[in-house]
Amino acid sequence: MASARKNDGVKKIVNVVLRSRPFQVIQLARKIGPAEFVRWTRLSGKKKYAMMQKQFYEASAKRSEYGEKKVDYVVGSFDLHNAWKDYDTYLMRYVDKTYRNKLALDFGCGPGRSIIKYSRLFKRLDGIDISRNNILNARRGLKKNRITNSKLYVNNGTDLRPLRDDTYDFVMSTICLQHICVYDTRFSLLKDMYRVLKPGGRISLQMGFGTGSPATVPYYTNEYDAPTTNRGLDTAVESPDQIGGDLKKIGFTSYEYWIRPTGPGDVHKKWIFFTAVKPK
Ligand SMILES: C[S@@+](CC[C@H](N)C(=O)[O-])C[C@H]1O[C@@H](n2cnc3c(N)ncnc32)[C@H](O)[C@@H]1O
Repeated sequence: MASARKNDGVKKIVNVVLRSRPFQVIQLARKIGPAEFVRWTRLSGKKKYAMMQKQFYEASAKRSEYGEKKVDYVVGSFDLHNAWKDYDTYLMRYVDKTYRNKLALDFGCGPGRSIIKYSRLFKRLDGIDISRNNILNARRGLKKNRITNSKLYVNNGTDLRPLRDDTYDFVMSTICLQHICVYDTRFSLLKDMYRVLKPGGRISLQMGFGTGSPATVPYYTNEYDAPTTNRGLDTAVESPDQIGGDLKKIGFTSYEYWIRPTGPGDVHKKWIFFTAVKPK
């Protein structure tokens, strides 16, 4: 009896230690260096999470190259994503010829993969990303592909502050929101997408869908202390009503969604593409 109780105690301690993700914490310390690591430990809430994400993506983007040789630690399965037909079918579902006169934004644009692929569909397709190094890589990629009019911005990870109200007709995002395992941050970003859209403008977004994927926290969890991102620790939409409820609260209408097979290199059970409109 006494030894069973002792075993339970040991199990509890092991669980508490593992839940704090000690291996990923060590990896983070090695990735960002001692000074930034100490700064991270002193922060809390959304700011702590955003700081980790920024540092994580700065380091990953710095090691990446998108020239003749492709070394990619940000997108992963870059060419397979470019060939994934569901982006054309669902993400771009409502993008018709009238969009050639319209302004669009790619949130979490990384090295500009989708800007390069889709900018011809819009008057201008801008990008915003948490990492300055990603934006530098995007700038090089756009130049190489002779895309000269896109504006590129760095954000703070929690909102779209450099962007003005009522600017865009279309805001899109791929393999980005699913990597943000803080519900408050995602909600704040969705609210800001609403702010930067013109009345009548549309969001078109993709996230992971379904329960039980590895390294995934439930939809409403705020994992502020997460020491990793980009598939290291993700969120997943567990029911389309979760997204629908958030969008309705913000003011969006005409919510539609499509649950589809998981895209390249991803560990989520399924993917969900969804769209909604800011009323006129
Ligand atoms: C897996 S990459 C995808 C890049 C691009 N969307 C694509 O499909 O090729 C995720 C991107 O989201 C960006 N990102 C992640 N969290 C972000 C946040 N909170 N604010 C802005 N960008 C973010 C990362 O810097 C990274 O470039």
